[in-house]
Parts: sequence; C-alpha cells; structure tokens
Amino acid sequence: MNLILIGFMGTGKTVTGKALAKRLGWRFVDVDALIEREARTPIRRIFAERGEAQFRRLETQAIRRAVRGRRQVIAAGGGAFVHPANRRLLQQAGVVICLTSRPEVILRRVTRTIAARPMLAGARSPLARIKQLLAQRRPFYATADLIVDASRLTADGAARAILTRLHPSLLADLTA
Ligand code: S3P
Repeated sequence: MNLILIGFMGTGKTVTGKALAKRLGWRFVDVDALIEREARTPIRRIFAERGEAQFRRLETQAIRRAVRGRRQVIAAGGGAFVHPANRRLLQQAGVVICLTSRPEVILRRVTRTIAARPMLAGARSPLARIKQLLAQRRPFYATADLIVDASRLTADGAARAILTRLHPSLLADLTA
C-alpha cells in the first residue's frame, strides 16, 4: 500500500509528500527525481533535447519502478495522471490523493522556477496557460480517491488534512 500524490505543478506535492512520509515513517519517492536520476539529465533538458513524448515514456518507466515499493508516499508529476497507463499503475499501487490550488496561487508558487518548467516556460501568459492545462487535466484529476484544496495550507497542514480525511479503516491500516 502506498499514498500517491497527484495534481498540477505548484500545488505542493513534493513538500506535502515529504511531510506526509515523515508523519507516517514511510519513504518519500518523487517520480520527477527518479526520471532525472535515471536519465542523468534535468527535466527541462529532456524536454528540450528529446521532446515531450520521450519525457512521457521515461515518466511511465519511472512510475513502473516507483510502484514496486510499499509504504511509500509517491509524488507524480503534474501531467502523469493524464495518461491511462500511468493512471492504472498509480491507482493499483495505493490511494490516490489530488492536491488542488487556485490558478493564481499556482502562478505565484511557480513563478520563481518557471524557466525549469517546460509546460509553462515560453507561454505568453503563464496564467492563461495554467488555466488551459488545468481545464484539460481536471477530468483526470477528478478521478482521484481524495481531493484536497491546498491553496491555503502549509505542507504540514495539507499532510494533516489528508490524514484526517482518509477513511478511518484505511488510516488504521496505514498506522498499524
Ligand atoms: C509536468 C509537471 C512537472 C514535470 C514536468 C511536466 C506537467 O512535475 O513532471 O515538467 O506536465 O505538468 P511537477 O508537477 O512535480 O512540477
């Protein structure tokens, strides 16, 4: 059993995932970091040199590796859940939690690192691009087992919100 964090860039998947893993005494696994480690290349360069389609193939491979483990909090990249194979792998591996935030909050959180975010870098209006991608992805995000609005939460606040909202029987399993 694993807890899987999905959701758009800038919703705090990594920081919340780390806080959640710490509370549970579990391992934290970041799919983007796995991709970079395996390719020995930053994501920004994978996109620039090999294109998005190749990045998505590497992402699926990294997810396949990540879901072999148990008692892990796994954070997947913002686009991962759009692809049916990834969705299936992640749903089978544990409880899927989607973090959401308002587009304006997302923009504020990603502005400093926008150059390293190929899905947003180069957009004439990053806010319009965020809204467009969110509209495309919302139907997939909506299939998560649990959806938590993290707009006003700190990482630890979001971790606590997730743990309180998980079904009690599940929570007993996690902490056993
Ligand atoms: C992407 C999100 C990024 C990373 C890649 C593509 C996306 O992950 O996987 O840049 O398509 O939204 P984070 O959501 O962890 O920033």
